Amino acid sequence: MGGLGKTTVALALCNDNEVKGHFKEMIFFERVSESPKLKGLLERMWDKIVHEKRPEFHDVKDAHQQLRKRLRQMEPQPTLVVLDDVWEINHLEKILCEGKGFKTLVTTRNNNVVKSDYRYDLPCLREQDVMSLFCFSAFDRKSIPETADYNLVKEVIVECKGLPLALKVIGRYLHGQPPAAWITAKDKISQGQTISEYHETKVLKRMATSIDILAEEVREFFLDMGIFLEARKISVDPLLDLGVYVHKLKWKASYTISIALASPNLVTLVNNKKGTPGNPYGCSGELSLIQHDVMR
Ligand SMILES: Nc1ncnc2c1ncn2[C@@H]1O[C@H](COP(=O)(O)OP(=O)(O)OP(=O)(O)O)[C@@H](O)[C@H]1O
Ligand SMILES: [Mg+2]
Repeated sequence: MGGLGKTTVALALCNDNEVKGHFKEMIFFERVSESPKLKGLLERMWDKIVHEKRPEFHDVKDAHQQLRKRLRQMEPQPTLVVLDDVWEINHLEKILCEGKGFKTLVTTRNNNVVKSDYRYDLPCLREQDVMSLFCFSAFDRKSIPETADYNLVKEVIVECKGLPLALKVIGRYLHGQPPAAWITAKDKISQGQTISEYHETKVLKRMATSIDILAEEVREFFLDMGIFLEARKISVDPLLDLGVYVHKLKWKASYTISIALASPNLVTLVNNKKGTPGNPYGCSGELSLIQHDVMR
């Protein structure tokens, strides 16, 4: 299911000290996504793992064969390859490599991509973590404050179905809102609910509420992000250009709005150079936005 935390867990694993101690520099993380450029991915794998001048690859098949052959000849060394967000088994088969000490971790929404013997189905968050994550987004603390309507907050939390993305987005959307807004939101997100409806679709509908209530110009910016390729970092600069040249905004307003999208957790800010969380007060040239593809 989308937004469950698969990528988050995979990234946490790559940052785990024990894992880093074992694999050292040989940890390769790649987002595969729905329509991947597999030849480019194999080229990056060659550069990162083989550390030799890369030969000319004619196509994906040739790149895969040459990489597999070279890996077989190399001295075995612990290597972790994370292939995040694989949509089709057909994609995985074209990039999967093996070797002594070579481990591949795949994250996917599609049960058919990895055989059940090798699969770990990530559970939804535990009740206690659901509460902390929602409250952290809605109240900047880990529990429901005494000033809030306990039952109302619990009802909203239940509607998020333990899905981290929904807890973050809906929680943030209700941050600082008066009780009346919570009641309206709760009614809205529980509207049209039928037992037979697919779980994920229901939660997605709920998250759409947080986009509906955005100020018009912020919503326009959010929708504009749909023109960029999925699963890619979007440099803030072209987004600013859209604001200035298409929406006729002043540069500063354009910047403020694009950064404002990070506040309700609709996008994540990253620093291009360091790959660390982006500083909204930093230089726009160094900032990128990542839009979770469930939110597209
Ligand atoms: N355990 C967690 N604690 C706090 N936040 C979390 C946790 N797991 C996930 N999140 C947050 O939930 C959001 C969705 O998580 P993530 O992108 O890892 O989902 P995913 O399963 O990879 O989704 P997709 O299938 O769309 O790729 C992110 O904003 C992430 O920060
Ligand atoms: Mg993911």
